Amino acid sequence: MTKDSSNQMWGGRFAAGPDAIMEAINASIGFDQRMAAQDIAGSRAHAAMLGATGILTDSDVSAIREGLLTVLSEIDGGTFAFSTALEDIHMNVEARLKDIIGEPAGRLHTGRSRNDQVATDFKLWVRDQIDAAISGLEALMRALLTQAEAGADWVMPGFTHLQTAQPVTWGHHMMAYVEMFGRDKSRFEDARRRMNESPLGAAALAGTSFPIDRHMTAEALGFDRPAANSLDAVSDRDFALEFLAAASICAMHLSRFAEELVIWSSAQFRFVTLSDRFSTGSSIMPQKKNPDAAELIRAKIGRIFGANVALMTVMKGLPLAYSKDMQEDKEQVFDAADNLMLALAAMEGMVKDMSANRESLEAAAGSGFSTATDLADWLVRALGMPFRDAHHVTGTLVAMAEARGCDLPDLSLDDMQSVHGAITEDVFGVLGVHNSVASRMSYGGTSPVRVREQIARWKDAL
Ligand code: ARG
Repeated sequence: MTKDSSNQMWGGRFAAGPDAIMEAINASIGFDQRMAAQDIAGSRAHAAMLGATGILTDSDVSAIREGLLTVLSEIDGGTFAFSTALEDIHMNVEARLKDIIGEPAGRLHTGRSRNDQVATDFKLWVRDQIDAAISGLEALMRALLTQAEAGADWVMPGFTHLQTAQPVTWGHHMMAYVEMFGRDKSRFEDARRRMNESPLGAAALAGTSFPIDRHMTAEALGFDRPAANSLDAVSDRDFALEFLAAASICAMHLSRFAEELVIWSSAQFRFVTLSDRFSTGSSIMPQKKNPDAAELIRAKIGRIFGANVALMTVMKGLPLAYSKDMQEDKEQVFDAADNLMLALAAMEGMVKDMSANRESLEAAAGSGFSTATDLADWLVRALGMPFRDAHHVTGTLVAMAEARGCDLPDLSLDDMQSVHGAITEDVFGVLGVHNSVASRMSYGGTSPVRVREQIARWKDAL
């Protein structure tokens, strides 16, 4: 196929081949060859159905089936010569099929169009990525559960505004991410359920006059049912957008966790030590161990959310049904999927390998008057003080401790009573960080008892 010959697929209508620039802007084979396996699976299902419905003879169908398997093995073996003149994966496969089996190849396209073909291939491809994202998330959640279980009762500072707020447990912090990634997983599962309708047989846009069986091809390709409206079937890219939206939220969660790991692994925090396997050195500063994997994961949201915005923008003004604009869907999704899978795998590796520094966590947990709320709550509980008054008394005690350069539990009972005479020795029972976390027994709270319940629930669910 040379560029000045008229096209093998529509040569009847065309006297001249395309300009080189036309060919360059039009061709998608450079990227859509990634859908070769899906394209051949779709064609095999379509051919089998054409045979079963008597639209094609059995001998044509078996020639097509054999030929398609040969094409697939050529592509898998790396011997297939992809041609830009043949535009996309659909025409590359069909043209090669014709070289191999001759005339019956021309009958494969009966009752279908590239419009339903590309929608089918792309859905199958995205569906595989959804499955991969779900298993990547499950693996990451298992790694987090292992961390949570090991440190269910280790104390660390909990932050708001990145200022020390109240002590929490390491297990509780790990489990917060299990909740987030659990929602991501359910978003992918939800998208998969909604997208699993077959476009195949919608043909160009209006359906076909051939007595095809769309239920049969839908079933063969693992779809729950055929899409019910042929116009919608060829023009819908919601499935790719939902994948990108779910991927964007997941990448945002990964990015937040990555940011914590960057902070936690710094010399100023020392909350965690990342493994050598997931760190890099500096070419000039010998002492450095950099959390590059975490930083790159933190950055991946940029391209993944970018893909979401790009495809939304491509789709937003398109009239029904198919427009060539939609060919711009694939590279965005391919890139986002590749990077999401990489980010999930890298995060799983980092979490599996990292060690939390229990002593640093505990030392930091007690700093910054992190049990001030416990003191105020005690004044309310033990002395029946209104919370606003208790807040004020506690604030005075915090100021006193701050002026002395000590922590709340370091104040004496006399110090306490100089601010409020009714305070008793019992107050010291709530001031330690371990007392503090143990007392947070409300459902979903940070007490080790509650954290272990959540760990058990998630282990069950996974
Ligand atoms: N390469 C095209 C795409 O990715 C395939 C569908 C082309 N259909 C058409 N009518 N030109 O969208």
